[in-house]
Amino acid sequence: MKRIGILISGRGSNMIALADAVSDGRIPDTVIAVVMSNIAEAAGLEAARSRGIETFHHSHRGCSREEHDQAMAAELKRHDVDLVCLAGYMRLLSGWFIKEFEHRILNIHPSLLPSFPGLDAQKQALDYGVKFSGCTVHLVDEQLDHGPVVKQAVVPVLDDDTEESLSKRILAEEHRIYSEAAALILGGNYKIEGRRIFHLDQK
Ligand code: GRF
Repeated sequence: MKRIGILISGRGSNMIALADAVSDGRIPDTVIAVVMSNIAEAAGLEAARSRGIETFHHSHRGCSREEHDQAMAAELKRHDVDLVCLAGYMRLLSGWFIKEFEHRILNIHPSLLPSFPGLDAQKQALDYGVKFSGCTVHLVDEQLDHGPVVKQAVVPVLDDDTEESLSKRILAEEHRIYSEAAALILGGNYKIEGRRIFHLDQK
């Protein structure tokens, strides 16, 4: 059995999508070992508990970035996780944490990276006037929204889109590709060359 640890700061819809994919076998032979947050009131923590998933909270207030990361990493190790999934986790990770879990941390971002990294990616896309946006699952490195791309999905931007309507259509694609990306990385059926991730043929 492979074990996933999920880090959230908010509502946790991507966390729920990953848990659903584990339950119905789209991410095979895997369990969600723990859902963790820096925010005690994160709605996703309650959603995880109501599904019987163990949760952990450690506030970032009053400790350094590395101290906080050490507490989170210790809990992830206690749960012996194979993969760390960031799902709306609104904290930058220290270089130390990233090295501890090298090539084993995924993030989801609601744009086609490298366009529109950072906050409010859907608003950035609307303001720029692009006709297509989407979402990206990538391995995490030390730069924000930057590591090698695992999966992307394209979403058209419609003339009457608002930030809300565009975000909603992108979110549906996020839920789909995050599970696909997690299954690929946990299955080990890929290779990394520089920034490129190749899905190897399935025998
Ligand atoms: C998603 O749009 C994700 O791409 C971004 O933060 C949002 C989290 O939403 N990183 P949720 O908490 O998974 O519903």
